[in-house]
This record gives sequence, structure tokens and C-alpha cells, in this order.
Amino acid sequence: MYKRLLFLLFSLLLSKAAFSQNGYQLSPREHLLMDFDWRFAFGHPYDTEKDFNNGTGYFSYLAKTGYGDGAAAPGFDDRSWRKLNLPHDWAVEAGFSKNASLSHGFKAVGRNFPDASVGWYRKKFVIPATDLGKHISIAFDGVFRNSIVWVNGHYLGTEPSGYNGFEYNISEYLNYGGENVIAVRVDATMEEGWFYEGAGIYRHVWLNKTNPLHVATNGTCVTAQVIDKAALVSAVATINNDGANLQNCSITQTIIDAGGSTITKSVVNGVSIKPYLSQDVKSNLAVPTPKLWSIDNPYLYKLVTTITENGEIVDNYQTVFGIRTIRFYADSGFFLNGKRIEIKGTNNHQDYAGVGTAMPDALQDYRIGVLKSFGCNAYRCSHNPPTPELLDACDRLGILVIDENRLMGTSSTELNDLKRLITRDRNHPCVISWSIGNEEWDIENTITGARIAATMQDYAKSIDSTRYITAAFSGGVGSGISNVIQVMGYNYVANKNTDEHHEQYPKQYSWGTEEGSTVTTRGVYFDDTAKHRLVAYDRAQNAGYLSLEQGWKYYAARPYLAGMVIWSGFDYRGEPTPFGWPSVESYFGMVDACGFLKDDAWYLRSWWTQAPVIHILPHWNWPGKEGQNIRVCVYSNCNQVELLLNKKSLGKKAMEPNGHLEWQVKYTPGTIEAIGYNNGNKAVDDVVKTTGQAAAIVLSANKPILKADKEDLAIVTVQVNDKNNLQVPTADNNIAFSITGPGKIIGVGNGDNTSLEPDKYLETINVLTIENLKEKIVDNFNNTDEVSAAYDDSNWARAFKDDRSEDFGKRVPAVIYRGDFFLPADKVNAAITFYYNSIGKTQSIYINGKKVGDNLPEAKNSDEFKLDSSLVHPGRNTIAIEAIPLIKKHSWDAINTNPGLIQLIYPAKTWKRKLFGGLAQVIIQSTGKPGQIVLTATAEGLKKGELKIEADPAAIRPAVVSVDGNDNQ
Ligand code: GAL
Repeated sequence: MYKRLLFLLFSLLLSKAAFSQNGYQLSPREHLLMDFDWRFAFGHPYDTEKDFNNGTGYFSYLAKTGYGDGAAAPGFDDRSWRKLNLPHDWAVEAGFSKNASLSHGFKAVGRNFPDASVGWYRKKFVIPATDLGKHISIAFDGVFRNSIVWVNGHYLGTEPSGYNGFEYNISEYLNYGGENVIAVRVDATMEEGWFYEGAGIYRHVWLNKTNPLHVATNGTCVTAQVIDKAALVSAVATINNDGANLQNCSITQTIIDAGGSTITKSVVNGVSIKPYLSQDVKSNLAVPTPKLWSIDNPYLYKLVTTITENGEIVDNYQTVFGIRTIRFYADSGFFLNGKRIEIKGTNNHQDYAGVGTAMPDALQDYRIGVLKSFGCNAYRCSHNPPTPELLDACDRLGILVIDENRLMGTSSTELNDLKRLITRDRNHPCVISWSIGNEEWDIENTITGARIAATMQDYAKSIDSTRYITAAFSGGVGSGISNVIQVMGYNYVANKNTDEHHEQYPKQYSWGTEEGSTVTTRGVYFDDTAKHRLVAYDRAQNAGYLSLEQGWKYYAARPYLAGMVIWSGFDYRGEPTPFGWPSVESYFGMVDACGFLKDDAWYLRSWWTQAPVIHILPHWNWPGKEGQNIRVCVYSNCNQVELLLNKKSLGKKAMEPNGHLEWQVKYTPGTIEAIGYNNGNKAVDDVVKTTGQAAAIVLSANKPILKADKEDLAIVTVQVNDKNNLQVPTADNNIAFSITGPGKIIGVGNGDNTSLEPDKYLETINVLTIENLKEKIVDNFNNTDEVSAAYDDSNWARAFKDDRSEDFGKRVPAVIYRGDFFLPADKVNAAITFYYNSIGKTQSIYINGKKVGDNLPEAKNSDEFKLDSSLVHPGRNTIAIEAIPLIKKHSWDAINTNPGLIQLIYPAKTWKRKLFGGLAQVIIQSTGKPGQIVLTATAEGLKKGELKIEADPAAIRPAVVSVDGNDNQ
């Protein structure tokens, strides 16, 4: 009742809320980013002490509500933990080890590394008193993996998959007008894939505040039918009544165009929803001359769903959507808005150089931009549900998406995972197909596989009838899944006769869900398998595969195939086929892990884009090979290409459609030039020159200005030029980086699949416990001898041997505790902090006999002491605490017996990266303040490089108020 009253009061306040320009009221809903100011430490999969004693209580958190213990307890002392912001991937921060998993790129996490396979996150945040009565939930976009979440010691749930988004209602557990703590235990011991998956809270976390009557999360479903130039939009909204009273309301659906103008509106009155039930409300809206979403013009509309109750707006929920038609034909492929689109796609995993899976949103746009630059128009989320921001980027930038489920199966768990994927992603115009699975070898050719696929397909259709269902299939066609799937996904046609299959199943739609799997190293033109280097010329991996050109020609010649999706767009960590250690990244990409184009991307650009393209490979720096034949290839979409060496023509050749041209050229240093002709006229040319020695470092960024919003990025390319300003393609200098201003480096890379250099240079934290804690009962509090550094305490008793009973309190006026801690010799480099926890009602603290705390009252988690070299030394240090003892009131009381922890923070080493094939990359992120960021790059013998980037004032996204501010992260 009390809550209800407050809610009414709150609603009254809202009636005064501002109206937006469009005339609809601003949302009483809050969607707050919860990425900033977390604490992190490693736990342990089986050593309970190292796992902060979580789950050791006599009554566990599964036995009694609110019994989250150890690091899950609200009062747990996390002051010695590392501070960080999300997204976070601790695997990318780890070193490499031969004993680590090949799939995860040999990063030292997982099964063989129990000390680095469980991570704990904690965050303290404030909930204002005025929020009482609201429906508050915490939403995770994805945590790798097996996460358990507690709020204020209350267990909320467990999510096994690292790819599902999940949300917990926390309204009842919060302290309104006070501090709250969330604790998350993440266990990345197990893998879900065979590729790098990261570890930790690697996607965003949100706090959602609504009224009890609200639109459910992902609770809208917008579909559009285009009939004669007009669109009929169906908008279904699921309204939740998470309150105890029947609610009568009206639902208004408003469509707003990209310019912010209201296009149309529909109101459904008299909606009545019983307590704790949901109701779907459907509206039909007409958009007279819709601007269709397409790859070239990705036009987006917004649907605003408004709930009005007694004339007051209680919720506004926004859904971005697009109006477009999609259709497959069995004999002519895929059509977008009635126009055939050849699918020119790439498969991609979700990691990137320097940052692993913890990708700030700006990287999603960057990656899509790189793919689009060579004509890629489709993205398969292999092999898992993507982060929502990837789909936002695809919506905005115009790229088609095959959205993939992780594991095939029809148990309620697996169907529910599929449902969550579809309901979350169904409004994205970019999504054209749900992929229910990939290469399920055990079942793809069996009757069980056919049954599972049929059920999953029907189930998916029951949630979203507008998308096409596919499965990526590697087996022999004609049995199992291939017989039932709506859109046959061929993984690799070298071992399949699709013509025959199409003849047998003439009504089945089809496309190539994987093709290529070529293995190349960017910038390498002679194989060196000892060094794990594979030429960048296009060739088939082995007899079981086609080269890119063979693959593309195959698909381009067959209209019944909707197109092909190459394995893969980007190189990714793990799966370094055909090598093992010390190769840590795959070789399959059209671009490397930094997004630097391999020559393969130029082949695609020549046939996947329209403007004249020409590209020569290799580079022309071959000292020692003078007079020897070098294989020169030219990728171009021109009719004819002429090659010239040092201005002398080596002949003109006609280009075969979807082909390439090549020459054997006797190497002489100088200039090699390719000129592309269309209908006899010069259309485009490419010139490659032999360069001199590396002379100067040159830095360039993808943008000159970034937003000072704590999230935006600049992606910096590092190269070295010779004295004539020509980029040296073979340079491998070791470059060091420093940065000033409101920017920080968050990762470095160079695309070298074998590089074991760190991706990140971070502070490191060591935490020491106080050992050998002993005690001596003394007559009074101010007793000085026993606290001196050299005092002989060898016959003192173990501390807390006697129970702190009432009797102990009467008997004992004061206790002196002595313990020690051992500082390593390199402690001189560390900032040392003693985080003290009171073990007395009143206490004075001495480090090596020097008083650091005088007569301190009992306080939990608040006293901290910086221990500089005037107080501590390498080796054994003593700590003495003179205390009036803490006494139990009841025999079952737990009193603190742990005097705290000593934290050593070692500063980060200098950021650096070797150039590979002449290139490296640095990712810079805004720290949230405006100003000029200066990145400086130095290397022995080279002129330094400097790059200035402006961080322009920008609003930080609405975020949860943290208790534990964390400016330097
Ligand atoms: C496929 C698989 C992909 C990747 C690729 C490498 O069989 O679906 O995930 O492993 O092979 O060639």
C-alpha cells in the first residue's frame, strides 16, 4: 500500500514532466548505463578461500534468502580489488601459454589456469529514496560465462551461457536512499565455442527503472508490409503489470521518422491488465510513402510506445525499426525491397585486436565500416547471439545479418535461448535470417538432427514469421537437417554438388553460409611454415576447399544460390589452422585482427564494389632477389590491365569477370604500376615503389575528433615511412607509445598471428595478507614496548584463540596483536596501501614500530594507510595493533578477526608494439573530459611520430550513480 501511495505521488510529479518537440511526453523510464566504477578480483573454481569464501556459510545463499556470503556479502571488503570499467575481458589481459587452449588463442585462462578462470566483480551504487515504488531491474547484455549475480547479498540467478542477455528484477532488494552492492561471479573455466570467447562482463550492464506498469523488455514487435508504395505497420507491445492492482490504461503507438517528425499515431483505449500479468496490445499503423531501409540507404524509423493511465503517461518505450521487404526465391536467390541482392557476406567472431571481446560500441561501427569498404553486404554472427550494439551498427550502416543461435537443441533451456535471441533482435531491419545452428556434426545427417531442426525452425517461426530460417551445414546433403531446413546453408561447396541438390529439392532456398577458409598472412608473399607465415596470394587451403576466386565464381554463376558468406571477415583469436602454438590467431580473415586489409579483401573489393578498382601485390621491396621472378597479381574490375615495371610495359591483358591477372616479373627495384582500362580508356591505376630504410614514424587516426564521453574511440594506424615519405611495407620496428590529455590507450595490435606481445599494459595488483597473527593480553591500552619492531613475540599465543565472550571482555582490558607481512625486493616500484579492518573497539596501529593510526574507533572498511619507504622495507615487516578487544554480545555473533590486507600496485609498463608488415594499431579511448589528446610514438633510430586528437565536449550517457568513483580508469 505504502509503495502504491508513493507510486501515485510519483505519477503526480510526472504529470509536470516536460513534453518533447513531437508532443509526446518524455519517458518516465530510465535506462542507465552501469559500466563504470566496478571492482574486480580473481576468485577460484575450487579453492574456497581463494574464492573469497563464497558459499561456505552454514546456510548458503541457496538455503536462505539474502545469505550471499564471502564476496557476495554486501559488507565484504573489496578495497584492495582492482578498479575498472566495463566492458572487460580478462582473457585478453592475460599472457600466452603453450598449455592454454588453442581455441582461446593460448591465453592463459580456463581449465589449466584455475587462478585466472573465475572472476569476481562488485559495484556499489546509489538508489535515491524517490525510486521507491518503481520497478527496477538489472540487465546484462552478456557475461562470459556461467555468471551468478547477487544484489545486497540476495541471490538473483545463474546464467550459464556467455552469449545470452539476461535481466533480473531487483526492486524489492534495494536500499532506497542508500548504498547498494551488486556482486557477480563469472566462471570462464569451460568454453562454449572453438574460437576465442573472452572472459568476464564483456558487454554492457544496464539498470532499468520503470513504473510497475511498463512495456516489457524487448516487449515490442514491429513488422511492416509494403503494399503498393505504402506500408502497413503492425506494432505489438507486451505490457507488464508488475504491481498488485488491476491497471486500466491506453496504449499509444507513434511512428517517428529519422528527422524526428511524427508520421502517424494509434491509440488503443480500455486496456485492462490484472496484477502480475502481461498483455499483448496490437496496433496497425499506415505509413503512406515509406522510405525503405536498404544497404545503400539504411533509413530508420522509431516507434514510441506510450502507456497512459488516468491521463498520466507512465511509460515511453522506443523501438528502432526499418521498413523493408525480404524474400527468398528457390531459383533466383534473395530480394531486398523487390531487388535481387547477391549476398556478399563475411562470417565474424566478436573479438578484436587489443581489446578481445570487450569491444566499446565505437569498434562495432569501425569493424562494419572495414567490411563495407570491400563491398561486404552481409554479416553472419558466427556462431552465437551478438551484442545488441553490433545489430544497431548494422541497422545504421546498412548490412544484412544472419543472426545465429549458439547450440542446437529442443530442451526447454535451448528453445528458451532461441526465443530470447529472437525476441531481443526481431525489430532490427538488418536481420534477415535466424540461423538455428552451425555444423552440428553429430546430428546434421541424422533423423534426430532433422527432428531437432524442424522443431527449432517451427518454434522460431512461431515467434517471428517474417524471417527465414537457416542452418549452416557441413555434411553430405540429402539427409538430416538438409532435408528440412528452409534456407539450406552450405558450408563449403568443394565437397558438395549444390546443382544436384537443387535439382532434387527445387523448392528449397539456398546460400553459402561458409566459403573460403583460405589461410593467409597479411603482407607475406613467400611461405615460411617454420615461422607460421602463409602467402597472401589467394589459394585454396587444401583439396577440401576452394580459393576465394573459385568460391566466388561458383556462387556468382548460380542465381539459385543467394550468395556466399566468406569464412572469415576478420582474423580472430584462436583456431590458428593449420598451425598450433605459437600461432595465437586464425589466418582466415580478409582483413587481419586490426582490420588492416589483406590482399584478399582487394580481390573482393574488385568484384564486390562498383567503382573502378585496381590493386597490385606483392610490395616491391625484394633486396637479394634481383633478377629472380616474382609473382605479381593484379586485382581489378577493369576490362583490361597493363603492367609496367620502371615505366616499361610488360603487356596488357584482358580481365576475365570475377578473375584476376598475373605476371612473372624479374625483380629490379623501382616502380611497378598497373593501369586499368575500361573500353580502352584509362580508368584507374596503382603504383607500388621500392622503398628505402625506415626513417620516421607516422600516426594517423580514423577520425580527428572524438567525443569526450568515456566511451568513444580513435583507432590509430602506426606506420613508418622512408626519407621520401613512402610507407615501408616490411618494417618491423619496436614502437613505444605515450599519451597525454584526456585519452587512454586501451589496446594495441599489429595483425601478426604469432605475436606473443601483450595486448594491454596495465597496472598489476598484488594483495598480501597479514601472517602469523599473535596476541598478548595486557593491563592497559597504552603499552609501548610490545609494539616496537624488534619485540620478541615468539612465545605469544595465536590470535583469537580464546572466544571473545562477555567473560573475556570483563577479564581483558586490552590486547596487543602482532603479525607480519613479507614485501618482495621489487616493492620499491609499488604503491603500497594497508586496508585496515578494525579488530578492536579502539585501536592504535604500528608498522615496524612506527605509529600510523592513533586511538581509532571501530570502523568497517574505512581506515587505509599508505605505506611509503619511510615505513616499510623489502623482507619481513611487522605490524602491531594495540586494541580494546571487540566482544560478542551473543555467542553466535561473528566479530572481525581479520585486520585487513596490504595492496601493492605496480605501475603499468610502457605501451609498445612491434610493427608487422609495416603496420601496428593503437586504440585510444576518451577518459570523459574534453581537451587535446597527444599520442607520441618513439623507436630507436626513427623520427618520433606525434598525433593530436581533440576530445570534444559530449554528454556521458545517463549512468548509475556510483559510490566508488573511479576517474582514472
Ligand atoms: C567451419 C566452422 C567455423 C570454422 C571454419 C574454419 O567448419 O563452422 O567455425 O571453424 O570451419 O575453417
